Amino acid sequence: MERTCVVLNSNDMPRSWYNLMADIPNPPPPPLHPGTLQPLGPADLAPLFPTSLIEQEVSAEPDITIPDPVLDILTMWRPTPLIRARRLEKALKTPAKIYFKNESVSPTGSHKPNTAVAQAFYNKREGVKRLATETGAGQWGSSLAFACAMFGMECKVYMVAVSFHQKPYRKALMESYGATVVSSPSTTTGTGRRFLEQDPKCSGSLGIAISEAVEDAAGRDDTKYSLGSVLNHVLLHQTVVGLEAKRQFDMIGDYPDLVIGCVGGGSNFSGLAFPFVRDKIYGRPVDFIATEPTSCPTLTKGEYRYDFGDSARLTPLVPMYTLGHQFMPAAIHAGGLRYHGDAPLLCQLVKDGLVSAQAYTQLEVFEAALLFARTEGIMPAPESSHAIKAAIDAAHRASEEGQTKTILFNLSGHGHFDMSAYTDYLEGKLTDHVMSDGELRDSLAKLEGLPNAGHEV
Ligand SMILES: Cc1ncc(COP(=O)(O)O)c(C=O)c1O
Repeated sequence: MERTCVVLNSNDMPRSWYNLMADIPNPPPPPLHPGTLQPLGPADLAPLFPTSLIEQEVSAEPDITIPDPVLDILTMWRPTPLIRARRLEKALKTPAKIYFKNESVSPTGSHKPNTAVAQAFYNKREGVKRLATETGAGQWGSSLAFACAMFGMECKVYMVAVSFHQKPYRKALMESYGATVVSSPSTTTGTGRRFLEQDPKCSGSLGIAISEAVEDAAGRDDTKYSLGSVLNHVLLHQTVVGLEAKRQFDMIGDYPDLVIGCVGGGSNFSGLAFPFVRDKIYGRPVDFIATEPTSCPTLTKGEYRYDFGDSARLTPLVPMYTLGHQFMPAAIHAGGLRYHGDAPLLCQLVKDGLVSAQAYTQLEVFEAALLFARTEGIMPAPESSHAIKAAIDAAHRASEEGQTKTILFNLSGHGHFDMSAYTDYLEGKLTDHVMSDGELRDSLAKLEGLPNAGHEV
């Protein structure tokens, strides 16, 4: 029988995370304090994050030990399988080998618990009782709610309004874990009330939801803020995905020519890719594609510069590709990819040409998703389907060139909570949206006066 599924034992779990900061040729410029425009110090982050996570955020150590209580929870579903998509390959009549790392097997159905568990652990260890966060599609919110349940902590989730209405079962899942969920913008924060005054029907954005969660955490002694992507420590926690994948490729004597992941804030792409990026930095040939929606084309159309991580300008200024922190993306179904910026580490790799980026329209992504479901049997999350689309395109290119490429993508989540989106697609109700140059110009114009990427510190 041909091998399809490559599995590791619990004992083969990586014992440390990989920190790309140790090897990246050009580290990104530092985040800036929005008031002084000086590099942010650990003290500036202390109201929002516990000390251990701040230390990880600024660390340049290559390997950071995964604490035993975190490993203990991760092994509830890790190591995750590496699967060869033989039936998809057959349908595509491609000589390419397509592998995916199946992160959909976690309790909440995505890669997000990999960092949620670690963040809840460090917060709990430092005496924090309650975590506040934002969520787009609900994957991150449910993952933090799950992690808080594991450590007996309270969890408050600001859920982007459009997803709050599109995905009621995600809300039910978060509440089942014991979290409190509100639609963002909400009436519970000053930021939320301001946005609702401007537009009572505001569909929300991750930028607004982040502002609300940050305001919540900054205003209470018992609460810290938790972010599901973008920050160095979040990407660090996700590298368990790529480290496992490398071991799995070692087991079968193969290695990817191309590594693909979708990008919302950059954590699942980076988690899979960074251990392979390290190899590339040291001379091993491997390519990378970061995929995103044409309606929120941060890496492919955004400007590289300093911008706020949130809409209300409460966060530090971060060096990244951005569409502007006031950008309100179209209400596409890949709710987790509707973020105006991206992780500074990933942006630096794109800027330096180590990673390339590709945007796809909603309809071509859903078409790819259904081909995957009909061949591999797993209903993919609309977010992950951006990576599937890129893998299919790469397989077609391999067919044209007659090359046996090895392609690896991250199946960052399943789509069981996204069935209304699939219903809309099947009934022909979905449309495409491409961010126009005019929209981009207007959004970036609102950044006038902020330091640009060349800002001297
Ligand atoms: C299934 C899934 N994949 C990918 C993403 C994108 O996030 P990130 O780029 O941080 O991995 C999300 C975000 O919510 C998601 O839910």
